Formats: sequence, structure tokens, C-alpha cells
Amino acid sequence: MSDPLNKVLEVLSGEEDASTERLFEIIRIPSISTDPAYDDACKDAAEWCADKLGEIGFDASVRPTTGKPMVVGHYTSSNGRASPHVLFYGHYDVQPADPLDKWDTPPFEPQLKDDPKYGSVISGRGASDDKGQFMTFLEACRAWHDATGDLPVSVSVLIEGEEESGSPSLAPFLEANRDELIKDFALVCDTGQWDADTPAITTMLRGLCSSEVVVTGPSRDLHSGMYGGAARNPIRVLTRILGSLYNENGAVQIPGFYDDVRPLSPDQQDQWNALDFDTAQFLGEVGLKLPAGETGRGVLEQLWSRPTAEINGIIGGYTGPGTKTVIPSKASAKLTFRLVPDQDPDKVVSGFKEFVMSRLPDDCSAEFLPGQGSPAVGFDTTGPAFRAAAGALADEWGKQPVFMGCGGSIPIVESFKSQLGMESLLVGFALDDNQIHSPNEKYNLTSYRKGARSWARILDNLSNM
Ligand code: BES
Ligand code: MN
Ligand code: MN
Repeated sequence: MSDPLNKVLEVLSGEEDASTERLFEIIRIPSISTDPAYDDACKDAAEWCADKLGEIGFDASVRPTTGKPMVVGHYTSSNGRASPHVLFYGHYDVQPADPLDKWDTPPFEPQLKDDPKYGSVISGRGASDDKGQFMTFLEACRAWHDATGDLPVSVSVLIEGEEESGSPSLAPFLEANRDELIKDFALVCDTGQWDADTPAITTMLRGLCSSEVVVTGPSRDLHSGMYGGAARNPIRVLTRILGSLYNENGAVQIPGFYDDVRPLSPDQQDQWNALDFDTAQFLGEVGLKLPAGETGRGVLEQLWSRPTAEINGIIGGYTGPGTKTVIPSKASAKLTFRLVPDQDPDKVVSGFKEFVMSRLPDDCSAEFLPGQGSPAVGFDTTGPAFRAAAGALADEWGKQPVFMGCGGSIPIVESFKSQLGMESLLVGFALDDNQIHSPNEKYNLTSYRKGARSWARILDNLSNM
């Protein structure tokens, strides 16, 4: 281990309480990007990030966009080498905290709690996704700076505030700031580990696209005694169509849906099989036991290499207390589709529209509200940066990292590749049971500590690349 790295790890140990307090500060800012009521909080969160970067010697600023502000910072290492210069990415925005009554303690009042399984955990919205995660990197930079007065490689940082709401102002921002943002590669801390003891590097992300369909039947809400039996109910029309989205084997029935999906290579299949994934435990933890995806495919294959059509919400008719004998005029549903490499988001959404239209009775109409789309992305796993990160993770965790797929999506990472021609390296420390996007989100204190130590080591390895 290099001498400076030793010192950096010592600084991290000495700074533990202060480091936890810094994370608490940013969790206290309710930066919910989908809800305009929290616009000011998003600005505050961006300012906070820029301030903290400034403290560690970054030339950092808050950049307004048509949506939430971006935070950009640059640090030129005095190591005298031009490369690698890395771009670190994270997001300061969080998902809404509802349902609030399901939280044991308030979402924006972070606390350390005793956890029977993990010892100490940090609770709060964003504790894991992505505040705890991006802070592991900032804390590593801070420790390098405190211990050595410098960073071992040049680092730029981009922290966005719209990740959880589809990053609408991202593409124009990347376009307008290409030269400033294109670095040798991106480092991203927004994914998970294999398990609590085993680090991971994520090698692909699924893409995402969405559609909202509104079916109209009668021209107004009707009394179901006067019209019931004769008039068509749009909820019935919609649910019948949605019910026919899958066949009895869990396969999506939209014509052409799987056309562009690559078959899983035998090598990939073998690597994933060797991971010995525990399906019963995975489903058991959320109160389920029967895998509900395509029959004949393992859960990892379903999550990491197959697309989905998910109904996220259905709205229609009377849902208040008691009964109301009504045939509603409209019914609607929100859907999202997880995509795998080579699938085109627009094509998938058009396929869904045609699927609905071809099943719609003549006296009903359907309207489709526009959504966002971002394709899946796979990463280079053969380059020196990948090896540098794998080695650093093995040093910290005492085990080789697992190379994982990821069922989730981080739209910007695909844009880094397609818009800026930049590869990404995804290392994260979240666990499946961190309850991200759910009540009682948490981040293990060990994830936070060892995450920062891991980045400290990765930066050291990158400087010797
Ligand atoms: N950090 C997640 C992505 C993720 C989820 C990585 C699970 C690893 C495991 C990210 O913040 C996220 O929630 N992405 C959204 C994207 C959407 C809102 C555009 C997602 O995947 O639903
Ligand atoms: Mn995230
Ligand atoms: Mn998220």
C-alpha cells in the first residue's frame, strides 16, 4: 500500500463522526425533484454540494438549467499528468418520501439506528440513493486533500438534481458543456453491491421508457342503474387490454417487443449461474415466493437481460369511502418499460400504442401522454480503469468484486456514452434492502465508511494506471 494512501485511510478513520454529520446535513435538505414545492430545497442542496466541493479545493459552481440546477466542480491534480482525468457523477435529488405514515422516524431527520442485521444504519430519504452514495466519493476526496494537500488524479464532479424525474434538462446541458464535461471516463456511485460483504462493479444498466394511456368511453360519468349492462365501462376496457399484455408464461404480448433483444451468451449465463443467487431469499424478503417473470429464465437473467412492461398505476372511477354506482367516463394507466441493449425506447412505446389501439372497441378512444425514454447501456469491462477499480475493491473488502448487471436505470450514463462518447465505471455500495424509494430508506454505516475507503483506494490505483 502506498504511503500516502495509508495516511488517507487514517484521516478517514479520524474523521468518522464529522463525515457522518456532513451526510446528515445534506439528507436534511428535502430535495425532491418531481415536486415543484421543493424547488428551493433543490437549490439549497445544489448550493450545499458546491460549498462542500469548494472546501476540498474544487473550483465549483451551481449551474442553472431550465429544470433543477447542476453542480459542476473541477480539481486539477498537481501530479503533472494529464490523464486520467475522471468525471464523477452523482445526484442530489431524491424521491418523494410518501407514504409518510410508514416511516418510523421523519424522512428528512436522519438518525443512526441499531439494526439487528447490520449494526448501525443511517436512516432518511436519500441516505442511500444517492446522497450517502455520492458522499462516499466526496469524503474520499476530502481525505486525500486533508492528508496530502492534493488529489492523486484530476477530478471533475457533476452532481445533478433531476435523476429521479427523468433528467429532462440533461441532454441540452451536456450538449452546451461538452468540452468541459468530456473527461477520460466517468465514475458513478449510484448502484449496489452483490451482498453486504461482497463489492461489485456494475457492467450494464437497463433503459427505461414510459407511457400513460387514457381510455374514454361514455361522454360523461353515468348512473350504473340507468346505463349498466348497456354502456361500456372504460375501466373494463382498459383492464382487459392490460390483462392481455402478458401471456400465461409471463412473456409480453406486444408484437415485436422482443425483436431486438440479444440472446444471453452462454459465457454470461455461466458467470451469472456461478453467482449462486438465492431466489427464495430474494423474494422472501419482500413477502413473495413465486418468480413471476418469463418462465424458464432465472431471476438474474430476468432482471439483468430481459425487458419488462410494468403497470405502475391505474386510475379510474370512484375510489372514495363507501360506494358510488357509477360508470366512469375515463380510465387511465401509467406504464414503464425496462429496456435491454439494442431496444429502441420509441419503438417500444409505439408498439404499446398499437397494441392498445388494435384492441380498443369502436366507440372508445385512447389518448397517450408523452413520456421520457432512455436506452439500456453496457460498459467496457476490459480496460485498465476497470482493473484498477477491481483491484482497489478487492484490497478493501478482502474479496474480488462481482461483475453485476443492474435492473435499474440511470439515464445520464447512457447519455455520457451516446452524447459525449464517454465510458463509465459504476461502483456503488447500496444493498437490496436499503429500501430506496420506499419508507425507512437506510444506508449501512459500514457501506458509508468502507465506500469512502474504497474510493480512496480506487483514486490511488487510477493514479498508477
Ligand atoms: N440509483 C437508482 C438506480 C438503481 C436502482 C441502481 C436499483 C441500482 C439498483 C436511480 O436513482 C433510480 O432510481 N433510477 C430510476 C430512473 C428513473 C426515475 C428515470 C429507476 O431506475 O427507476
Ligand atoms: Mn440513484
Ligand atoms: Mn433512485
